[in-house]
Amino acid sequence: MRFAGKTVLITGAAQGFGAAAARAFSEQGAALVLGDMADSIDTDLPTRVVTLQGDVSDPDYACALVGLAEETFGSLDIAINNAGIVHDPAKIPEIEPETARRVIDVDLLGVFWALQAQLSAMEEKGGAIVNLSSVAGLCGAPTLGAYAAAKHGVIGLTRTAALEYARKNIRVNAICPSFAATAMAGDAVTDPEAEKQMTRGIPMRRLATVEEVVQAILWAADPANSFMTGQCIGIDGGLGAM
Ligand SMILES: NC(=O)c1ccc[n+]([C@@H]2O[C@H](COP(=O)([O-])OP(=O)(O)OC[C@H]3O[C@@H](n4cnc5c(N)ncnc54)[C@H](O)[C@@H]3O)[C@@H](O)[C@H]2O)c1
Repeated sequence: MRFAGKTVLITGAAQGFGAAAARAFSEQGAALVLGDMADSIDTDLPTRVVTLQGDVSDPDYACALVGLAEETFGSLDIAINNAGIVHDPAKIPEIEPETARRVIDVDLLGVFWALQAQLSAMEEKGGAIVNLSSVAGLCGAPTLGAYAAAKHGVIGLTRTAALEYARKNIRVNAICPSFAATAMAGDAVTDPEAEKQMTRGIPMRRLATVEEVVQAILWAADPANSFMTGQCIGIDGGLGAM
């Protein structure tokens, strides 16, 4: 029960890492505030769960999620800023302006609004924030220009927030997965040939499992991990070592 007595907020909780993280935190005793644009969040979990549907690119939604945590459970201890989208592969000149804007709005500004609301709420008691970046936040990602720009931005926000709030005992870290077995990886999840193509640059030559990424999220958020802040950790089958 690593998270007993803690309130954990997770965005993008309807599927993928967010849904699996919600289950894992709940199994470790956390009360949950779950958000997603989709209305299909699973609330059949061992601990108390409240949900709020909305779009992370809306600053008011970021405040509403934090408000819900405070009203329902008294405070916010941990936030997992996980909701995100990717665009279809295209070189930079071919990415449509509205696509680029939407990816930056959701993947970068979504984390910015979340941090604004969450850091203020955690200032008194301290807490932990985990942002979902990507290996595309640490290295260039050909054909994923807008996504890579947004995820690099998340790293900048993570490090800056960690420095601004270190003395308030708010730890802020980012998890940077390579392709993992969620809807975002498309065909590669079910088609071994597509997986081989997608992971040919990964030393371990496979997708990450959802569980492997979720365990890293829990570890980054764990109160026992009390001296780690400002870190951007690759969960990438060795890619970052190259
Ligand atoms: N799966 C991967 O290969 C991979 C690799 C690196 C990083 N990531 C990052 O991990 C995070 C989660 O990815 P995933 O693979 O679980 O994705 P996913 O597509 O399986 O799930 C994302 C969830 O976020 C929600 N969402 C999307 N836009 C939203 C918005 N504007 N407001 C609220 N909710 C929104 C979706 O409805 C969905 O439930 C994302 O930030 C993604 O960029 C994923």
